[in-house]
Amino acid sequence: MAIFGKDEAKRKQSVFSPEDLQKLPRHVAVIMDGNGRWATKRGMPRSFGHKAGVEALRAIIRHSSDLGIEALTIYAFSTENWTRSVEEVSALMGLLLEYFTRELDELHREHVCIRILGDISGMPKGLEKQQAALYAAMDKTRENTGLKLNIALNYGGQQEIVRAAQALAKKAAAGEIVPDAITREAFAGELYTAGLPEVDFLIRTSGEMRLSNFLLYQCAYAEFYKTDILWPDFDEAAYDEALLTFTRRNRRFGGV
Ligand code: IPE
Ligand code: IPE
Ligand code: MG
Repeated sequence: MAIFGKDEAKRKQSVFSPEDLQKLPRHVAVIMDGNGRWATKRGMPRSFGHKAGVEALRAIIRHSSDLGIEALTIYAFSTENWTRSVEEVSALMGLLLEYFTRELDELHREHVCIRILGDISGMPKGLEKQQAALYAAMDKTRENTGLKLNIALNYGGQQEIVRAAQALAKKAAAGEIVPDAITREAFAGELYTAGLPEVDFLIRTSGEMRLSNFLLYQCAYAEFYKTDILWPDFDEAAYDEALLTFTRRNRRFGGV
C-alpha cells in the first residue's frame, strides 16, 4: 500500500493557506521524546512505546514530503542513550532495522534522500546487520532529490563539533590549510549536516525544554517549539499546528 497518498496529501495541505505554504521552514529538526512515558502510562514495557514511536515517525516523514519540506532531521538515538538497559537499546535498534528494510523501497520511490548523522561505524558488536542496512539505505538514496531525511543515530552535538575541529586541525597540521581558512563555512562543511540548510524549526515533544546534545551548532537561529504531546501521539494534525506556529513567528536574526 502506498504510504504517500496524493489525495490525502491535498486534503491535509488545506489547513495551510497559499501564504502559509510559502512560509514553511526549509529545515525541520525533531526531538522525538516521550516514548517510554507513553508506554508506562499504558502499563506496557518501554519498547512498546518505541514501536508506536516508529509508526508516528512514518507519518511525519510522509507529511513532510507531501508538504514539500526540504529537510527533516530526526533524533533517533543519542550518544548518551547507550546508558539505557541492553534490552531497551536492542529493542530500539531492532525496530530501526525493521523500519529501514520495510520502508526503504517506498522512501526511495518517493525520492527521499537518507543521510545518517552520527558515528554508526562505532556501534557495538552484534549490530552489524543494522549498520549494513543503514549504509545500504544511504547508498541507495544518495542521489534522490526529494525530502532530505537525516537520521541522527549514535549522535552527539558536542562530539560532532569536536570531530569537525579535529578534522580541520589535521588538515592544518598537514599544511593543507592555513588556520585562517577555518571559517564558519569551512567548519560547517566538516559537520554531519554539511550542505544542508540551517535548521529553521526545532520541535520537541513530551514537554521537555532542553536540547539534549542535539544539533548544537546548527540551531544557532532555529525557532523552538515544545508540545506536551508524547511522541507516539504526535500526528499530522499536531505537526500542522506546530508548522502553523512557525509561519507566524517573527525571525529577526539579531536585526530589528
Ligand atoms: C524518545 O523517547 C526515544 C528515544 C530516546 C530513542 P524516550 O525513550 O526518551 O521516552 P521517555 O522520555 O523516557 O518518556
Ligand atoms: C533525546 O531524548 C534523545 C532522543 C530523542 C533520541 P532523551 O530522552 O534521551 O533526553 P533526556 O535524557 O531527557 O535529556
Ligand atoms: Mg526521553
